[in-house]
Amino acid sequence: MTKLHQKTQEITDLVLKAQAKAYAETSSEPEPGLTQPIQWPVQCLVGPGLEGAIACESQIGYVNGAKGWLIYRGYDIFELCAYSTYEEVAYLLIHGHIPSKSELNTFKKKLALYRYIPETQETLAQFPIKKMQPMSALSLGTILMGQEFNEIIASASFGKLISSDEDSIPMETKPRGEEHAIYEFKAKKLRRQNITLNVCYHLIAGVATITAAIARLREGKPVVKPDPNLSHAANLIYMMTGKHPSPAEERIMDIALILHADHGMNASTFASMVVASTLSDIYLSIGSGIAALNGPLHGGANEQVLKMLQKIKNPQRVKSWYTHAFERREKITGFGHRVYKAYDPRARVLGPLAEHLAYDDPDTRNLFLIAKNLEAEVIATLGEQKKIFPNVDFYSGLVYRTMKIPSELFTPIFAVSRVAGWTARILEYLKNNRIFRPRAMYTGLFNQKYIPARTRTGTKKNP
Ligand code: ACO
Repeated sequence: MTKLHQKTQEITDLVLKAQAKAYAETSSEPEPGLTQPIQWPVQCLVGPGLEGAIACESQIGYVNGAKGWLIYRGYDIFELCAYSTYEEVAYLLIHGHIPSKSELNTFKKKLALYRYIPETQETLAQFPIKKMQPMSALSLGTILMGQEFNEIIASASFGKLISSDEDSIPMETKPRGEEHAIYEFKAKKLRRQNITLNVCYHLIAGVATITAAIARLREGKPVVKPDPNLSHAANLIYMMTGKHPSPAEERIMDIALILHADHGMNASTFASMVVASTLSDIYLSIGSGIAALNGPLHGGANEQVLKMLQKIKNPQRVKSWYTHAFERREKITGFGHRVYKAYDPRARVLGPLAEHLAYDDPDTRNLFLIAKNLEAEVIATLGEQKKIFPNVDFYSGLVYRTMKIPSELFTPIFAVSRVAGWTARILEYLKNNRIFRPRAMYTGLFNQKYIPARTRTGTKKNP
C-alpha cells in the first residue's frame, strides 16, 4: 500500500471505528410514530417553532433523534462515509438508488458540464464580493446561475428551453391527495423530467463553483476553472485554492460533503421547500435555503464554534470559561439540536477526524484540545440532564481549518453539500405539491377605532 493510500485507509478506519462505537451505544429500532405512511389529516403535538409537526411524507432521509442515527434512502450515514462519494450520495438522494456504473458516469459528466459557469462567475466578480457576507454572495450567485442555465441547456442540445419553475411544478395537491393541474405543458413528459433533473444537477454542481469563486474573489485572486477530470470534492478544493488536492484531502472533503448532504426537515430545507411550494423558481428556493442556513442557530454555527474556541485560548481555561457560561445559562455553540437527543452521528465522525488531522497541526491541536475539554464539561452538566451533545457544527470547523480553509467559508461549504438534500426534497415534495400555509394564533386587539394623525395625542401601545 502506498503512503497516500495508507492515509485514505486511515480515514476510512476512523469512520468504521465511529460506526462501531455508535452501534454499540444505540439500538436499531426505528420510531414507529415517525416511519409510517400518513393518513391526512394527521394528529401530532406541535410545539413552538413547529416542533413535533409533521409536514409531509418523505422517502429521502430519516433522523432518529433519540438514538442518534442518520439514514439516507435506507443507507446508514457511517456506511456512506466509509465507502461512498458525494456524487453517489447526491444521486442517491435525488433518484432513490445508488447509481450503476453507467448512471454514475452520466451523472458525473453532467456535473462536469454544469460546474463550468463562466458567465455567472464573471457577473459575480462585478459585485463587491470582498465586502459582502459570503452567504449573501452565494445566494446572489445561485440566483445568477438561473440565468446562465438557459444558455447551457440550449448549447447542450436539450432542445428549446422550458423555464425551470414551470417545468418543475406540474401539480398542486388537495389535502386528500386529489391532483389539480396548475400549468399546462406543451413539451413531452420525458423531456420535462429531464430538464427538471438537469436544473437540480446544475444547482448541485454550480453552488460549489460559486463558493470557490467567492473564496478566490475575497482574496483578490482570479477564479479557477473547474477540472473536468476531478471529483466534486476535489474540484471544490481545486477551485478554491488553485492546487490539486492530495487523495487524503479529497477523501476528507468527500466525507464532510456526504455528512452534510441531507437532514430531514431542518430550517433551511423547510425554507427552500416553502418557497418551492408557492411554485416559485427553484433557484430562488435554493437561495432561501442558503439564507436560512446562514443563521448562527443553524449552519452558521460552525464558524461561531471556531471563534468561541479561539476566545477560550487554551485547554486549561475551559473549566472557568464554561462555569461562567453555564451560570449565565448561555447556549454553547455547536451543542444541542432540535431533533437529536443523543450524540449526533455526524459529530461522531467529525470529532475523531478533527483529532486525527490536528495531530500534525499544533495550532489546530490546541483548539481541538479545548474542544475536547469543552465537550466533557458540557456532557457532564447537560448531557444526561438535558440531552445536550455536540452537533455537526462542533467539529466541522476544526476539520476545515486543518485544510487551511478560511472560517467564513465553512457555512458556504455546508451549502455546497446540502444543495443535494434541498433539491431532492423539493423534487419529491412537488410531486404532490400543496402550498405551505400554517396559521398563527391571533392574540392582538380587536375593535380599534382609527384616529387621524392630526387629532392623535400620545402613543397607544399594544398590550
Ligand atoms: N448549550 C446549552 N444549553 C442548551 C443548548 C446549548 N447549545 N441548546 C439547548 N440548550 C438547553 C436550553 O437552554 C433549554 O434549556 P431549558 O429547558 O432549561 O430552558 C433546553 O436545552 C432546550 O433548548 P431549546 O432552545 O428549546 O432547544 P431548541 O430545539 O429550540 O434549539 C438549537 C436547538 C437551536 C440547535 C439549540 O440547541 C442551540 O441554540 N444550539 C446552539 C447553536 C448551534 O449549535 N446550532 C447548530 C445546530 S446543528 C445545525 O443546525 C446544522
